[in-house]
Amino acid sequence: MTLPSDQQLINAALAASQHAYMPYSKYRVGAALLTVSGAVYGGCNIESVSFTPTVCAERTAVFKAVSEGQREFAAIAVVTRDAGSPCGVCRQMMYEFAPDMRVILADLDGKSRLVTTLRELLPHGFGPMNLDNLS
Ligand code: THU
Repeated sequence: MTLPSDQQLINAALAASQHAYMPYSKYRVGAALLTVSGAVYGGCNIESVSFTPTVCAERTAVFKAVSEGQREFAAIAVVTRDAGSPCGVCRQMMYEFAPDMRVILADLDGKSRLVTTLRELLPHGFGPMNLDNLS
């Protein structure tokens, strides 16, 4: 099995970004989450007029994947106009499942601007291991 390239994942994130619902911020975000089995889940940001229910593209993708039984992730590509970095809430949610996954940040022209890992973005994170001593 050949996993998609970074550029293919960016292209999937660009496709997902077309569905972004962001009438308030006008900040378009698309994500493409790659499972270790090679499946790709797209996500976009979805805003609410009352603001707080807004969900980011990254979490949309994670929720779609987990709700379909996927929990092992290899990479995520995120596209925004400025190749912006995932917010803290999304970092925490992704850390739950894949602290070492690859993170590819690209712009809306599909140009890769930063390739890193989630652990780099959330060093010394709080994760499921921290609760392992409870029962
Ligand atoms: N947003 C994301 O989708 N992902 C991030 O990691 C940062 C922020 C969205 C939320 C909101 O719809 C818009 O970008 C501006 O904050």
